[in-house]
Amino acid sequence: MAAHILKEGRFVGALEYRPHLAVNQHGHLTMGGVDLVELAERYGTPLYVYDEQRIRQRYREFRRAFSSYSPVEVYYACKANSALAILRVLYEEGAGADIVSEGELFLALKAGFEAEKIIFTGNCKTDRELEAAVEAGVTVNLDSLDELERLDAIAGELGREVRVCFRVNPEVSPETHPHLATGLRESKFGLHEKLVVEAYRRAAECRNLRVTGIHMHIGSQITSTSPFLEAAGRLFDIAGRLKRELGIELEFADLGGGVGIRYTAEQSFITPEQLASEMLPLIERKLEEHGLGRMKLIFEPGRYIVGDAGVLLTKVHTVKETPYKVFAGCDAGFNLLLRPAMYGAHHEVVVASRASAEPETVVTFAGNLCESGDILARDRHVPAVRRGDVVAVLDAGAYGFAMSSQYNSRPRCAEVLVKEGRAELIRQAESLEDLLAKQRLPEWFE
Ligand SMILES: Cc1ncc(COP(=O)(O)O)c(C=O)c1O
Repeated sequence: MAAHILKEGRFVGALEYRPHLAVNQHGHLTMGGVDLVELAERYGTPLYVYDEQRIRQRYREFRRAFSSYSPVEVYYACKANSALAILRVLYEEGAGADIVSEGELFLALKAGFEAEKIIFTGNCKTDRELEAAVEAGVTVNLDSLDELERLDAIAGELGREVRVCFRVNPEVSPETHPHLATGLRESKFGLHEKLVVEAYRRAAECRNLRVTGIHMHIGSQITSTSPFLEAAGRLFDIAGRLKRELGIELEFADLGGGVGIRYTAEQSFITPEQLASEMLPLIERKLEEHGLGRMKLIFEPGRYIVGDAGVLLTKVHTVKETPYKVFAGCDAGFNLLLRPAMYGAHHEVVVASRASAEPETVVTFAGNLCESGDILARDRHVPAVRRGDVVAVLDAGAYGFAMSSQYNSRPRCAEVLVKEGRAELIRQAESLEDLLAKQRLPEWFE
């Protein structure tokens, strides 16, 4: 399906639900009122561009959907996009932060997030990471009994008390890419139900730990409500057991992230409102059934908030017609947007410099890496593509730059934030010198 637009500059079809995108009088794609072709000229390509207002809007939509329950918090999943400016936007909105590394802890604190609203998750935290978490005073989401012991010892050495919860593996199988499902029986994440009661019993005995909550995250890009409901039911049943069997009263239940977005018009999707309307009554019932009181609910969306707020701009440097396909050779590959190569993910593309032209041909947009799997978008019905055209890969705001690399020794690109007609660089492009930044030759080379 191609980007198809009406004369007055609004998209219909595949793109009509992306209200922050439009087409201006030059036939150029715009985002947040900024001409993306002009941005590509000003900052060069490849280039990531994000729309601040769209991020705020999506955060608020998510927050509002669950507002009939109190207390509830939204902790942005920093891994989706950890650009400092984006973290800052979400901090300003009142979000907390879900982090998974010392690096994300560092960035979240820099952006302003308070330790009380940061949760540190991860299946293999190093001692150094646990120390950093204890020093910062964040909640540690434990993933194993081994980690429990290490954390208690580290907290003791540092003379600190640490708030902890356990990530539980609810053993549900959402319909998503296998690499995006994290709560399967055989998944590496979380504690299986069999172990949970024993784990909490031990945690409650640890002198330096304060047991405060329970956590789950079943996967990402989930497009139906049923796996969330199934998993939430199990989570609260476990919370009930903890109360009955151990007398532990938890302060919060963190239900993770995972709400999918509409990468295509044809795919199924759920809205936060839909999820909330089905999940909150279930949670209320479970709280009552188990006499759990008003636990705080936490949600950790990443993709839903930043996914469609970002585009990757890339320039066509060569058009190659083979007997079988027309390839537009682009200056971005899976070094900058891994999702198509990693998950076979579909991202819509718009020829931004010709966004009001009718589709007339079928083109495959190829990245510039020496890998045959490096295809950004296959067989797309688009206007004729020429050398110099700027192409926008849509919905690249989540797990885009965050997963980038310097593969093929290509420095990473710049990032720009737009807001109501203004644009500012939020990350400079790396230079060739940056490829050498941390390298050295051993002394034995003269
Ligand atoms: C623990 C945890 N929470 C939240 C998220 C965010 O998921 P999503 O971006 O799909 O909302 C992830 C993503 O992998 C995660 O691992």
